[in-house]
Amino acid sequence: MKIQIEDKEFDLMLEYDQIKKRTRLLGIQLNVDYEDKVPVFIGVLNGSFLFMADLIKEIDISCELAFVKVSSYHGNDTSSGIVRELIGLDIDLKNRDVIIVEDIVDTGLTLIHILDTLKKLEPASINVCSLLLKPGSLQEDIEEITYVGFEIPNEFVVGYGLDYKGLGRNLKDIYRASTSPSET
Ligand code: IMP
Repeated sequence: MKIQIEDKEFDLMLEYDQIKKRTRLLGIQLNVDYEDKVPVFIGVLNGSFLFMADLIKEIDISCELAFVKVSSYHGNDTSSGIVRELIGLDIDLKNRDVIIVEDIVDTGLTLIHILDTLKKLEPASINVCSLLLKPGSLQEDIEEITYVGFEIPNEFVVGYGLDYKGLGRNLKDIYRASTSPSET
């Protein structure tokens, strides 16, 4: 099935049914791994909102939930000129077991920044649960990525929380770009 968003055509890649089944398995694994703990699930907005909603329904151990957002703005005090700030965290993470919930890890640069920031808050442990991972795009190994829904090729995807030019987050299934978007 094909869909059109703005100037781009997308093909169906993962149906919601597959996503749900995989999410259920991730939940089972997390329930076992964190059996005696009360972890804090931290969703990274905007993309993770649907995955977090489905994942958390599979969790039957006691847990807390929070969302953060990475805001990027141009500054003069880093080599890249981009300064990223993590906003919205309202839970004390000291000595807590943290699970970062991501929609997708592409280059991994955003995640590395989030990990660096959260580690300074002295959690007892920190792991990442990402629905999608593009191994071919990852710039360095990130040992905290313990739970992955699907490894996908280095293609632009949209739907189930992920957007193209702000659109498509509401799509139930995940689609891949038929041709590479000029702007991602
Ligand atoms: P990274 O820093 O390159 O790992 O990517 C960070 C963010 O870019 C993700 O959290 C997404 O918001 C966005 N992103 C990366 N790849 C895609 C994609 O294929 N579709 C939609 N958004 C993406």
